[in-house]
Amino acid sequence: MSAYHQLLAATVDYLKQQKANGQRHVVVDPAKLAALMRAPQAAQPHPPTTQSSSVSAKTDSFVELREMVQACTQCPNLVSSRKNVVFGVGNESADIMFIGEAPGADEDAAGEPFVGKAGQLLTKIIETMGLKRDQVYIANILKCRPDTPGKRYGNRPPSGDEMATCSPWLHRQIEFIQPKIIVALGKTAVEGLLEQQVAITRFRGTWQTYRDIPLMPTFHPAYLLRNQSLTEKRKIWEDMLAVMEKAAMPISEKQRGFFLPR
Ligand code: URA
Repeated sequence: MSAYHQLLAATVDYLKQQKANGQRHVVVDPAKLAALMRAPQAAQPHPPTTQSSSVSAKTDSFVELREMVQACTQCPNLVSSRKNVVFGVGNESADIMFIGEAPGADEDAAGEPFVGKAGQLLTKIIETMGLKRDQVYIANILKCRPDTPGKRYGNRPPSGDEMATCSPWLHRQIEFIQPKIIVALGKTAVEGLLEQQVAITRFRGTWQTYRDIPLMPTFHPAYLLRNQSLTEKRKIWEDMLAVMEKAAMPISEKQRGFFLPR
């Protein structure tokens, strides 16, 4: 990480600490602010490029990518409302990558994607596939929780602008991880990755391609929380069976039969 980004990350940490302590304003010396503006990379971290990296550079650069994302200030409204930037979690060499929409309140508080109710369901789905959560990689289209000014709870979907601003980070993340398969969870994830509008009910279960990587669109686990019928559970499960087949994972008869009507 460059000295500038180290300084920026330390400043962000310090300000977060102040915010957690109830401080709402900081006094900044104009001369220092001007000096900061003149810093080599003050404008923004460079937008991620599409260059591929060698395997040895992979870890270091992924660490740097994380630092850059943690220090991102491109959406001022989200910067001021977020508790944490939610970069992603899991195995950085995973074969399967799950991509959701954006952090919710639980994820914002924890700094980790999919840890709330929908996340617990996603973890169950992953485990039913015979995998552990730390064997796959989990991320979102948006790295910050979409703000909901004036509301004390609830979520909102990311705006088109927020998705366009944030998705280069995810594209770069995917380049490093090089998953064999991407599972896009819900309409926003599919639209963010494929950069086209989709009807998720028609798209789910049909293989798509994201930059040469097979992509399986499926329902968001939050949808299953709202609709717990066997038919809908089976639809997601069939999508996961297709993923397991493509990944050449072993599938037991028991697994094949989950959520079928008795
Ligand atoms: N929903 C998402 O899309 N992502 C999360 O991280 C949590 C809930």
